[in-house]
Amino acid sequence: MSYELTIEPIGQTIEVEDGQTILDAALRAGIWLPHACCHGLCATCKVQVTDGEVDHGEASSFALMDFERDEGKTLACCARLESDVTIEAEIDEEPDAESIPVRDFPGTVTRIEALTPTIKAVFIETDEPLHFQAGQYINFFLEGGE
Ligand code: FES
Repeated sequence: MSYELTIEPIGQTIEVEDGQTILDAALRAGIWLPHACCHGLCATCKVQVTDGEVDHGEASSFALMDFERDEGKTLACCARLESDVTIEAEIDEEPDAESIPVRDFPGTVTRIEALTPTIKAVFIETDEPLHFQAGQYINFFLEGGE
């Protein structure tokens, strides 16, 4: 089951899968929402829910205080939809930034090379090339989900 998430002020509506967080769905749709820790601790991803119901998930009680929950705020990195939802987010337009949706790329480590005594280069072969812009980063998930 999925729900619809409308993100204001850009007025864009995206699908959010059951169990998927608001942040993950937005990034995979190419919509950049502010975020940092992605674990409900820093509050960088705080958004206002203006319509609908969310489960706050693992949001820390310090990053999202009780009065903020009462005011309809949530943390996009932890919040999962329980209905169609509309949020109000602070989305800064960055004219030089490309909008590159987050995607998963299976890959295989093909070589590890020592560059210095403390730095190694890890070469990973993917099925298709990755388009990226300087300043972006990659999260690695190992087999088994770590
Ligand atoms: S990104 Fe840190 S609390 Fe969501």
